[in-house]
Amino acid sequence: MSEPVLEVTDLVKHYRTSGRQVVRAVDGVSLAIGHGEVLGLVGESGSGKSTVAKCVLRLTEPTAGRVHIAGRDITHLSRRAMRPVRRDIHIVFQDPYSSLNPRMTIGQIIGEPLRQHRLARGRAAQDRVATMLERVGLRAELRHRYPHELSGGQRQRVGLARALILEPKLIVADEPVSALDVSVQASVLNLVADLQRDMGFSCLFITHDLSVVEFLADRIAVMYLGKIVETGTREQIFADPRHPYTQALLSAAPVPDPAIQRSRQRIVLGGDPPSPTHPPAGCHFHTRCPVAIERCRLDPPALFGDGHAAACHLVTPAGGPLLTSKGV
Ligand SMILES: Nc1ncnc2c1ncn2[C@@H]1O[C@H](COP(=O)(O)OP(=O)(O)O)[C@@H](O)[C@H]1O
Ligand SMILES: [Mg+2]
Repeated sequence: MSEPVLEVTDLVKHYRTSGRQVVRAVDGVSLAIGHGEVLGLVGESGSGKSTVAKCVLRLTEPTAGRVHIAGRDITHLSRRAMRPVRRDIHIVFQDPYSSLNPRMTIGQIIGEPLRQHRLARGRAAQDRVATMLERVGLRAELRHRYPHELSGGQRQRVGLARALILEPKLIVADEPVSALDVSVQASVLNLVADLQRDMGFSCLFITHDLSVVEFLADRIAVMYLGKIVETGTREQIFADPRHPYTQALLSAAPVPDPAIQRSRQRIVLGGDPPSPTHPPAGCHFHTRCPVAIERCRLDPPALFGDGHAAACHLVTPAGGPLLTSKGV
């Protein structure tokens, strides 16, 4: 990989609550995204995905670790020094209802980054807004409307148009379709895929639903309780999942082919993930893992493997402990 657009190294974020407890939201995450690459960051609610996004965008200060954007260490840049970096990274939020200013017209919302960075005004700005509206599949006259007049899907298209108007190097999309009706999700995902192909931006695509990134991500990283437990190419994760957690997530996902669905082994995980305030010792996953052994209770496994890596004592060169690559 040439110099990554985003590189996150040993990122840690511990929140302190009012009750003096420490929430280990992110506990040593490293990842890199190359030019034009889409990385899917997948994990259950509470696993620390949004906290990673907030640290990347400097919306919160990390406890430890580093964030590089296009080779530049931005971890401790001042607000002022961050300004030019903010042209290169934009976020699309989960909730298209609360993330758009209700008092601004759609045209003003989409054009706001141009104004903030003093890149275009007047006619030139209007033309760029019109181009973006068209690119995200919205009619030109919608620019005079307000967010409450639009559907959820239309609002998320506005969020995308605003995020992309400066042609950033990196888009962080934090569950961009999770708040939308299932019927609308596919069309917004297709739009993201089309825009990514045409504009070539890199993307950190966050989702709790592995099936959402099946057609979008080049590589996938699976998070559990603040740590990445498996990472690999999309093909590696879907065809040969190795960590028991990834194997369970995949076994629960619906498959279009009913024959495969019937033959597929289903792994049901018991209970909810433990609290990141008191993560279990050893492997964080051992309390829910169907194959945990004594060692897993004591010894935290490191992410091991070249390219396709898993953090599990039971992964062997033949595959993961629950489903072998040939078994399903
Ligand atoms: N500002 C905060 N203060 C305290 N705890 C937080 C804060 N933000 C998130 N958390 C906690 O950190 C953990 C990870 O949260 P988050 O990054 O939002 O996970 P995800 O996006 O995967 O659902 C959760 O337990 C959450 O409750
Ligand atoms: Mg989140």
